[in-house]
Amino acid sequence: MERTVYLNGEYLKESEATVSIFDRGFLFADAVYEVTAVVNGKLVDNDGHMARLQRSCNELQIALPVSLDEITLAQRALVEKNSMEEGAIYLQISRGNAGDRDFGYPENVKPTLVLFTQARKVIDSPKALTGMKVITLDDIRWKRRDIKTVGLLAPCMAKQAAHDKNVDDAWLVEDGYITEGSSNNAYIVTQDDVVVTRPLSNDILHGITRKALLELAEKEDIKIEERLFTPEEARQAKEAFISSATTFVFAVVEIDGVMIGDGKPGKISNKLREIYIDLAKKTAE
Ligand code: PDD
Repeated sequence: MERTVYLNGEYLKESEATVSIFDRGFLFADAVYEVTAVVNGKLVDNDGHMARLQRSCNELQIALPVSLDEITLAQRALVEKNSMEEGAIYLQISRGNAGDRDFGYPENVKPTLVLFTQARKVIDSPKALTGMKVITLDDIRWKRRDIKTVGLLAPCMAKQAAHDKNVDDAWLVEDGYITEGSSNNAYIVTQDDVVVTRPLSNDILHGITRKALLELAEKEDIKIEERLFTPEEARQAKEAFISSATTFVFAVVEIDGVMIGDGKPGKISNKLREIYIDLAKKTAE
């Protein structure tokens, strides 16, 4: 069955939605995006995603083609039109079609807005039970990882390298320290049960799930340290996990072939997943 997608104000069948070859998203990856989880047909933490979308656009001087409220109406309409109960909604804004290929920002060009749904199980995902295996790789991305752009070739390369090694994902390393996962934030739990994650800066994406999770952890009296950590410290950790809108929380049970803990999702990782899912179900709208 074809999905209904959204393109510049219109709801179309996916086979009928097309974008110009001169669109700057296509030519320059001159575009930003957001991914919002859907649970029980409702959007999870969407205000956070909208706020980050606005920030990404501001950083790149891309004017929103419609208001954030109108984008949210389109998100909800697509969930309904596709009868989606669980999964994700992807949205992308490119600087638009300037009719040719020139590097500088064009004037008077309307940004291209695209949204589509991806139905999948977020809560009962098999990886939630088994945990993930990761390798560490050199972080070859650009220096503005706080902007959620569609320039994702480096993460694609990292995920392919992980796939070639029969593992699930890669954690990226810069100057000897883990930055984040290829499409998620990275955490370890020390032997004395402190959750450690890299502090916010331009080096990582400011995860919306990360923010909610750190607030929840604090309420549960789980100790948090926002500081750098090395791959070696990660391999010695009691637990490790990731967070993102598409995974919520997944435990990491192997790093570079080294088993973490007893090779099963750890207590704190499981607890954080559980309380995040509770929160998501309660607050989705
Ligand atoms: N990725 N870090 C990176 C590099 C990411 O791409 C993502 C999200 C995150 C987690 O952010 P959030 O919790 O707001 O989803 C961290 C999305 C899911 C993606 O590219 O599909």
